[in-house]
Amino acid sequence: MPVCRDSFGRVIDYLRISVTDRCNLRCVYCMPPEGVVWQPREEILRYEEIVQVVRAAVGLGLRKLRLTGGEPLVRADLPELVAALASIPGVEEISLTTNGVLLSSLAEPLAEAGLARVNVSLDTLQAARFARITRFGRLDQVWRGIQAAERAGLTPIKLNMVVIRDLNEDEIEDFARLTLSRPWNVRFIELMPIGNEGDWGEDFPAAGKRFVPVREMRERLAALGELTAVNGLRGNGPAQIYQLPGAVGTIGFINPVSQHFCDDCNRLRLTADGRLRPCLLKDGEVNLIPALRAGADESTLQALIMGTVLAKPKSHQLQEHVLPQARGMSAIGG
Ligand code: 5AD
Ligand code: SF4
Repeated sequence: MPVCRDSFGRVIDYLRISVTDRCNLRCVYCMPPEGVVWQPREEILRYEEIVQVVRAAVGLGLRKLRLTGGEPLVRADLPELVAALASIPGVEEISLTTNGVLLSSLAEPLAEAGLARVNVSLDTLQAARFARITRFGRLDQVWRGIQAAERAGLTPIKLNMVVIRDLNEDEIEDFARLTLSRPWNVRFIELMPIGNEGDWGEDFPAAGKRFVPVREMRERLAALGELTAVNGLRGNGPAQIYQLPGAVGTIGFINPVSQHFCDDCNRLRLTADGRLRPCLLKDGEVNLIPALRAGADESTLQALIMGTVLAKPKSHQLQEHVLPQARGMSAIGG
């Protein structure tokens, strides 16, 4: 099996695929209330084109796939894409990051198509607050989605909570307590300075006052008991994993801002409009559309993919305040 390495020796085996930039929520930190301008449909990769890119990438050594958005479940016939990807020899695992709104009806068909696991983005366990943060979402739909995912065997379920000062930081303990009775991986994420950095409206924390560092999240959790590091349990991602005493689930922290995890970065990103991106947090991408639509063969695609791999920066520069400008989170896929 081929191994794909970047110019710093990192093994690149993980491709995040954004299947749409559209979303059925408007989380305050991600989008302005009026929404964003969606990419025109003809510029969105067709499923056959995504499959072609994945075939080429797998030939270079990428083996694990994650579907993201926007919200991936708003794209029509997603189980068909999953089935097509699952049938590519060399694809080892397909997972999905979703807001969960549409999961209750899609969990079963996705699992049948070959999806292995889901990460659900959930920033609050309170219905009124959920409606406020997402601007109109219904928490009960997400909750039913999570239950359907469990029934369908899309496990272990991961919950991703973006922790925001004066908005949901008081729920860190409640999220952590979920792991006492459920075999879920709850992950606390630092708010990154991309997406909607402007005013979020009345009664929301002001710009510049929203960031909660992982160090502080951990201090809050100390009240629930000592966190034991879980060794050997490393997923595809950058989370450090821990357990509360007696817990059946785990707790993870993702600190893109307060600490570089770039040394272990294993990923490339494919945007819905066919750009390969070497780094979430730095501008710079390679447009695959001209090659795809000119009928390029696999080796041409592989040369473009390898070019992107070799363009991966050693790390992002958030600390130096160098931020991606060209795209928001919903157009990259997290
Ligand atoms: N900082 C941290 N996480 C973010 N997400 C979206 N925007 C941000 C941000 N600015 C998260 C979503 C979801 C994942 C795809 O990215 O909540 O969990
Ligand atoms: Fe949609 Fe995710 Fe952005 Fe919320 S964070 S608006 S669920 S893309």
